[in-house]
Amino acid sequence: MSTVTQTITEPLRTLHLRPESPEKPAEQAQQSTAAETSKTNGTASTNGDKDAYKYEWALPSFNNDQYPPLTPFEHTDPGLEALKHENPREFLAGATEVSSLSPRFGSDVSGIQLHTLDTRGRQQLARFVAERGVVVFRDQDFIDQPPEWLLNDWGSFFGRLHIHPTSGHPKDYPEIHLVYRDMSKSFNYEFNDRFTSSVWHSDVTYEEQPPGLTTLFLFDSPESGGDTAYVSQVEAYNRLSPSFRAYLETLSVIHSGVEQANFSRAGNRGGTVRREPVENVHPLVRTHPVTGQKALFVNKQFSRRIVGLKQEESDAILNLLYDHQAKGVDFQVRLKWTPRAVVLWDNRTTAHSAIVDFDSAQDGRRHGARITPQAERPFLKKD
Ligand code: SIN
Repeated sequence: MSTVTQTITEPLRTLHLRPESPEKPAEQAQQSTAAETSKTNGTASTNGDKDAYKYEWALPSFNNDQYPPLTPFEHTDPGLEALKHENPREFLAGATEVSSLSPRFGSDVSGIQLHTLDTRGRQQLARFVAERGVVVFRDQDFIDQPPEWLLNDWGSFFGRLHIHPTSGHPKDYPEIHLVYRDMSKSFNYEFNDRFTSSVWHSDVTYEEQPPGLTTLFLFDSPESGGDTAYVSQVEAYNRLSPSFRAYLETLSVIHSGVEQANFSRAGNRGGTVRREPVENVHPLVRTHPVTGQKALFVNKQFSRRIVGLKQEESDAILNLLYDHQAKGVDFQVRLKWTPRAVVLWDNRTTAHSAIVDFDSAQDGRRHGARITPQAERPFLKKD
């Protein structure tokens, strides 16, 4: 059994410690260029001068370690405990600002440090994110925290950490999923055969137990651009007519990781597939275990077909729902990143898309870390 395999199955304290002087991944040499200069969340850096990049340890590596299939596990959402709290927003007491990005979806918080939250505070945080769908916390210190804290302490509090089968990760930390874009061609493929970069999705919904509360922060980002758009799958569901909702609640959908794996096998994005792709069937409408809200659970990236329907019927319904999500600007928010922001979203009730409206060659690198705890197997609680 390889050491990486052990990180999946053993208690979190066995996660690797970062070496004193991390070896530079070979791939990294291709990903940086001498000409590229960017802003590094408060610290100027020159991407071409690799030694000067403060977050070099977190640059993507695409080794070919092979992982066994994921196995089922019991997930108890930490937000459930906060249902018992008298004041479930106590954790926001020190905030200098809590504003809504839109009335029923998305919040923006300043003035509290997430890393100082105790167990009770984290439980309330899980509930708050479940209620608001997506929450940005400004001026956090996550980029300065050691990866061991990010994984063993922070991420694993919210569920078992997912290891992505195809994405790049910091060399010794496969549980950190990187979002990464620089001048390297292999990271710039969105416009090859499409008009737009937007790909609405919830993360890795092909897994038997897809993610719940998810954390993303950026080490480095362009001066402007590279926002992330979010759509509420709860509001998307609520907008449908009662009879259509009732019909959708009878349906299940196949979600597949095959195309993502094939895309990598074709040599894109580092070209590695570390775990064989899986397909799983999930209810088209799911219930959130903490809020009890129902949400659509389909996305164009990974949903493939509605079980039991003819192809044309399945395509018609799925395309209608994808259009509905993409066009519903009245139940979407667009999140503008600021240096040191940390964004948390609930992958069970939202979908999102990175917005690639920048050119790394001119605007600089976009480099972020996502921590993606898995949650319960999706279920629908009938009324
Ligand atoms: C993601 O798709 O999980 C990351 C979104 C982003 O890069 O903004």
